[in-house]
Amino acid sequence: MNKKYYITTPIYYPSANPHIGHTYCTVNTDALARFKRMTGHDVFFLTGTDEHGQKIEGYAAKAGCTPQEYADRITSGFKKLWELMDISNDGFIRTTDKHHMECVQKIFKKLYDQGDIYRSEYEGHYCTQCEAFWTETQLKEAGGVCPDCGRKTELAKEEAYFLRVSKYAPRLIEHIRENPDFIQPVSRANEMLNNFLLPGCEDLCVTRSTFKWGVPVPFDDRHVIYVWVDALVNYLSAIGYLTDNDELYRRYWPADVHIVGKEIIRFHTIIWPIMLMALDIPLPKKIYGHGWLLFDGDKMSKSKGNVVDPFVLVERYGVDAIRYFLLSEFPFGNDGNFDNATLITRINSDLANDLGNLLSRTVAMVGKYFEGVLPEPNVPVPEEDEPVISCAASLWERMEKAMDEIHPHIALQEIWKLIGLCNKYIDVTAPWVLAKDEAKRGRLGTVLYNLAEALRMIAIAIGPFMPNTSPRMFAQLGVEEGELRGYDSMKTFGGIKPGTVLTKGEAIFPRIDAKAEMEFLDNMIEEQRKKAAAMKAAEEGASEPKPEEPEEEKAEGKPLITSDDFAKLDLRVAKVIDCVEVKKSKHLYNITLELGEEKRTVLSGIKDWVSPTDIIGKNVVVVYNLAPRKMCGIESQGMILAASTPGDADVVPLTTLKDIPSGSLIR
Ligand code: ME8
Repeated sequence: MNKKYYITTPIYYPSANPHIGHTYCTVNTDALARFKRMTGHDVFFLTGTDEHGQKIEGYAAKAGCTPQEYADRITSGFKKLWELMDISNDGFIRTTDKHHMECVQKIFKKLYDQGDIYRSEYEGHYCTQCEAFWTETQLKEAGGVCPDCGRKTELAKEEAYFLRVSKYAPRLIEHIRENPDFIQPVSRANEMLNNFLLPGCEDLCVTRSTFKWGVPVPFDDRHVIYVWVDALVNYLSAIGYLTDNDELYRRYWPADVHIVGKEIIRFHTIIWPIMLMALDIPLPKKIYGHGWLLFDGDKMSKSKGNVVDPFVLVERYGVDAIRYFLLSEFPFGNDGNFDNATLITRINSDLANDLGNLLSRTVAMVGKYFEGVLPEPNVPVPEEDEPVISCAASLWERMEKAMDEIHPHIALQEIWKLIGLCNKYIDVTAPWVLAKDEAKRGRLGTVLYNLAEALRMIAIAIGPFMPNTSPRMFAQLGVEEGELRGYDSMKTFGGIKPGTVLTKGEAIFPRIDAKAEMEFLDNMIEEQRKKAAAMKAAEEGASEPKPEEPEEEKAEGKPLITSDDFAKLDLRVAKVIDCVEVKKSKHLYNITLELGEEKRTVLSGIKDWVSPTDIIGKNVVVVYNLAPRKMCGIESQGMILAASTPGDADVVPLTTLKDIPSGSLIR
């Protein structure tokens, strides 16, 4: 019986079309699922969409359609994208599926009947964007805004049902401590323990009554079930939990790993395990929180126009090139910066040069020197051959380790190490020199055999990452479907048969014109940015006042000043406790500063470069004795200092090397 492996992505909100960030998560999860399948596991890979909640209801109202129509449209875009990206999911769950909604209701009722959900009243701070209630402590730490997205929260009060989180929290703390693999990367486990669980958890409000678009509470239809409770249940409902046909549930639960973005790890490592404990069923084995893909250092967002459209990229460069880039360039647990120049370089250097040329040179040399028929490897030179042979024969072990640790980028690095060794092997052995000497024909044949065999193993190894490229490589290498395309054949070097006919084919990754492509991609982003800015301006109304920009300053040419001149400046350390957009301005933030006992409001034109979450809680340097000045109807009481690169390509507020009480003088 094969070992089972149940792996999931988050179910995405169908609030706007999918972008490269969603693609990043799904492609990585797909590579993990494909790898496990290749290594003989019985895999169930689930993805889907999370369609309820106030946010979707709001988008639909704006678009002039029903929430269901809205969700249908965007969900079909997600499905199309996964098809395009060759995602091998076994299930696609929508939270509007009837069987899912029934499962949510059954679970809710069960927990209510057993007393783990109870009725009471809720008053708290609610973030509509994240569909999350926050406690006073959490808000205070985040400076009064939503700790996840940095937006302002609203006070909300409602009769509601609560989940007894506090009852299960001690057991969860113990579980996290005893199972270091449960939350990965491990830094995220510490964050959950220290920031949420150890300070004490309040019971969670699990219903809403201020809107309708959700799963109704089965015995009280004035309430809908909290969208996160609804969403998390997808991992069970998709495999038939609490239905007559629960074969998949019995076969696959508990999940082996939930892959989620770092911003939703809290829901998956606190609420979800507590729901499962209350249901008395096993917890998932691992929750892996991956980092974000940023664009030019900034979180992608439609309103900024910096979202990268995966459909455009795939159409231009092909699925496997984009999959490779997403899988190899960004260490999965960390944030990574998507930039066009790196994409193009990786396509040309890693795919066209390193891999593509290795294949085409090998096949061409077998064609030229042996009429396309693979020779016998009977003249070994161990000191030359060994590095390639031993690296190839042990590749599978290193890949398994990397994939078990949820590090697809490391598995790819291992494959590219072998590709690098093969290219070096060609340089060292110089087959074109061997070919000139009839006495060295045996050696020439051995070198080409070793290269073809290493390429066969490479073609197997890249399968989970670039599923379209493997068969194209096998075709050129003359490796037919069957055992020699299988994972087990990676464990012994020498599988490919002498006598195999190699056939030259098209370049698997043609080089692209870097300059032209950079222009294309940069223009695309520029166009999007302009469109987004125009839409925003239209939404804000034409009457926006011209933003007050910080005065242009030149690095040179300023007159010398005396220490007396400098002493006129009163510079102080201030702590940012709140940062919100100024509604009437494109560029300004309204920032609340704490200077010792004193609070001040300062307007700062750093919106294009800094997000509220970047700055809230940080120390900044403020010009304390700058004359107050009114902008957009608000008085700014000082100025925050920032460093800028030429042309203001980047603007970075200054901060202190270590924490120091706010209000401290700067001299
Ligand atoms: O949070 N970089 O849905 P969501 C990397 N419905 N990954 C990104 C990304 C980026 N820039 N942007 C999005 C939800 N993602 C809930 C989940 S699960 C029971 C419910 C990925 O549409 C990342 O995996 O906001 C993130 O966690 C997920 O999309 C959030 O998708």
